[in-house]
Amino acid sequence: MKKRIAIFISGTGSNMLAILDRVQAENGLLNKLCEVVFVFSNEPNAKGLLSAQNRGIPTKVIPSKGRKRESFDSDIVALLALYQLDYLVFAGYMRIASKILVDAYPQRIINIHPADTDEFKGLGAYEWTWEQRKTATKITVHYVDTGVDTGKVIAKADVDLSGCSNLAEVKQRGLAVEHQFYSQCLERVFKNDE
Ligand code: GRF
Repeated sequence: MKKRIAIFISGTGSNMLAILDRVQAENGLLNKLCEVVFVFSNEPNAKGLLSAQNRGIPTKVIPSKGRKRESFDSDIVALLALYQLDYLVFAGYMRIASKILVDAYPQRIINIHPADTDEFKGLGAYEWTWEQRKTATKITVHYVDTGVDTGKVIAKADVDLSGCSNLAEVKQRGLAVEHQFYSQCLERVFKNDE
């Protein structure tokens, strides 16, 4: 049975598109393993919503602005309950999950973080990496708990940053790895759960 997943975004959604590429292509890495039931955003103006719709994927929005974390997540859990989802895939989703959401999907929420979570957690990871003038970094894919990038690590990938001379180049190198690596991790998780 294909896993039923929802992808959670807040902005551009380039990771979401990279995943859709591998779900929607008949010979794609994730094509036989999962189905994207919808894309969710807490930001009504997230650019990625339009990109998802252009790919024929339904979108759902619950605006989070001004909402308390628990009450917002209760609304999400109520929405998700209608769709019998196996996994939630956070891809640039900029909210911290509360216990209400995490407990509803134990070890079933996955996130990508653009740094080694042992070195840097939270927002601004590429900025930090550039400020440190690092010549290499890592991308972390992990399960989501109620902390900020503290959940159990699924895998980490290396990013070579040698020769990068500005933040834009650091981001470009990192995102190129993210776009391949996230789908590889999802493939592994879904296969292990067959
Ligand atoms: C990515 O770097 C992701 O790792 C981080 O936020 C960025 C989102 O990019 N959590 P996009 O929306 O997938 O383009």
